[in-house]
Amino acid sequence: MADLDDLREGNKFGIGQPVQNQSFHIKGADNLSWGKKDRLTRIFNPKSGRSVMLAFDHGFIMGPTSGVERIDLTIAPLMEYADCLMCSRGILQSSVPANVNKPICLRSDAGTTILTELNDNVVIDIEDAIRLNVSAMAVMLAVGDPKMEAKTIANLFRAVDSGSRYGIPVMGVTAVGKEMARDARYFGLASRVCAENGANIVKTYYCDGFEKVVASCPVPIVIAGGKKLPERDALELCYKAINDGAAGVDMGRNVFQSENPVAMIQAVHVLVHENLSVDQAYQLFNDLNK
Ligand code: 5RP
Repeated sequence: MADLDDLREGNKFGIGQPVQNQSFHIKGADNLSWGKKDRLTRIFNPKSGRSVMLAFDHGFIMGPTSGVERIDLTIAPLMEYADCLMCSRGILQSSVPANVNKPICLRSDAGTTILTELNDNVVIDIEDAIRLNVSAMAVMLAVGDPKMEAKTIANLFRAVDSGSRYGIPVMGVTAVGKEMARDARYFGLASRVCAENGANIVKTYYCDGFEKVVASCPVPIVIAGGKKLPERDALELCYKAINDGAAGVDMGRNVFQSENPVAMIQAVHVLVHENLSVDQAYQLFNDLNK
């Protein structure tokens, strides 16, 4: 049994010190199989080491929410500007043309919808992920949720086992349940748990103290955008996350619910890959939005 009464908060994060003994351009990937390295390199640009992932898996729990009503009309025009597409297999097969030829981070677990409690019961059959030629499988972890924590950790564990057999990396997605604190302590713990259980990428949320979340996670972190913000604020969120060490974004609503999604994804792209300031990226958004 863990000594819960002696859970000392970490304070030696080595902020600003680069990861030691790393030669591959992706954090924590030096010792992975060739297939995993190749797939991760399709997602994370070898020059910048970063990625702009476009998330449009929202329908699998929310239905046709704003921006994803018609993937062919609203999401298809954005695909060329993304480094990786994140969606469910139903949307991939029905609405993403294979000749878009982008790496896919497949939403690989399912359970309930927003109409019921947070839940997550099944993980995709690895054979289907292989058939779909995915570059990564995304699985949610409900750390701290008394009902779903063990189940979702087991899901991630199984996905890592099956993915590793075929060289497919797994992205652990940290959930934010109603009862969970959205701070560096929680996201740091949840992100680390994803990585300790074998995730090769972690998706989490930006928060104060994010540099500690990143520093103590031995694999790349990408941030979700969360609820729609004004464009400049969303760009600032991306900037802060990158500045604190994130390896990119896996963004949905702040792109596809923007007043100009095509302009927004291009602004996010330059900010992530070219170290532009918030003002420069926002200027680009405004120029493209004319
Ligand atoms: C939910 C997800 C979503 O893809 C994620 O929340 C990204 O979308 P947004 O930027 O709209 O928050 O992984 O589990």
